[in-house]
Amino acid sequence: MAEQTYLHDVRELYERFPYPSPSPAIDPVLDTALGLDLACEDLDGAEILDAGCGTGHRLVGLALTFPDSRFVGIDFSARSLAVAAELVEKHGCHNVTLRHRAIGAEPLGHRFDAIISTGVLHHLPDPPAGVTWLAGHLHPDGVLYAWLYHAYGEFHRMLDRRLVRLLAGSTGDGEQLIQDLELAFSTSRYGTRSSRAGDSDIADPAATADAYLNPLVAAYDFETAGTLLGRDFAWAVATGVNWPGGAGTVDVADWTGAGYGAISAAQLFPQPHPRAAFLALPPRDQLRCLELALRPTGFSVVCGADPALSRCTDRIRQGAARANLVATGGDR
Ligand SMILES: C[S@@+](CC[C@H](N)C(=O)[O-])C[C@H]1O[C@@H](n2cnc3c(N)ncnc32)[C@H](O)[C@@H]1O
Repeated sequence: MAEQTYLHDVRELYERFPYPSPSPAIDPVLDTALGLDLACEDLDGAEILDAGCGTGHRLVGLALTFPDSRFVGIDFSARSLAVAAELVEKHGCHNVTLRHRAIGAEPLGHRFDAIISTGVLHHLPDPPAGVTWLAGHLHPDGVLYAWLYHAYGEFHRMLDRRLVRLLAGSTGDGEQLIQDLELAFSTSRYGTRSSRAGDSDIADPAATADAYLNPLVAAYDFETAGTLLGRDFAWAVATGVNWPGGAGTVDVADWTGAGYGAISAAQLFPQPHPRAAFLALPPRDQLRCLELALRPTGFSVVCGADPALSRCTDRIRQGAARANLVATGGDR
């Protein structure tokens, strides 16, 4: 019953504040397409599900980047999907189909080569059940690419959100409270331009509502993400991290920063002594240091069964071999 109430409230929020933008005039967002391209080898001809595609700004970014792949976008917010339909039409994306469906409801009756789900799992009433539902829609060699809030960088925002929701419980006006508490939300919080062309540091109503009014939010560190994904997948790799004003890719096999957007040991630890100590650690502990030092606001993770590694770039294969999030745990 509580689960149904949460589902209803989350859907209502996105009906009121379609994310990332109610406007099809806003440019497609390319961060997910870039992240997927850096994680997967060859997606030509692939069938890809965007689970919780919202207003489709990232879905259209994907469809334009991978014109030879076919995309299905699902969301339970009809208003968000209406924006997505306009955006798909505007950009002439013949490789996109939209369906009004809920994650966790009736299966779609189709399996995919890849599933994208950015900013969605942490709003589900039962995230592990949502992961299982998604895993059931993948071919055996299919990959899931998800983006999650990171618990360390989001700690204070989560407290502010709780405060707003508590106060709003008596006044009923969360938007006014956000203004009064001066909690305007910067779209550069996750290091990437969110939705609006040209300006990167503005208070965006959809992002602000998503940040402070969402009835249901979880946040993960690398270890708890491994637990979340480990029931259904053999391996999971932290592929990218976001922090206010910045974003980078993770390569546990090479900390020189040589790869595209790769985070270097020198960036994490400018001082020689901590840097040498970091470089001497095993890869899993290096990942742990990375999240403790950077305190990311979000991160992307790629996961799958063993055959899915054949679809991935060498960086992801190295990550799965050396610092599999599913295999973490132990002496934390
Ligand atoms: C923060 S938005 C992310 C939108 C898009 N993936 C992006 O990254 O720009 C979360 C989206 O997930 C959708 N969503 C949340 N729970 C869902 C569920 N159980 N089934 C389908 N969609 C859901 C919401 O309607 C909303 O559009």
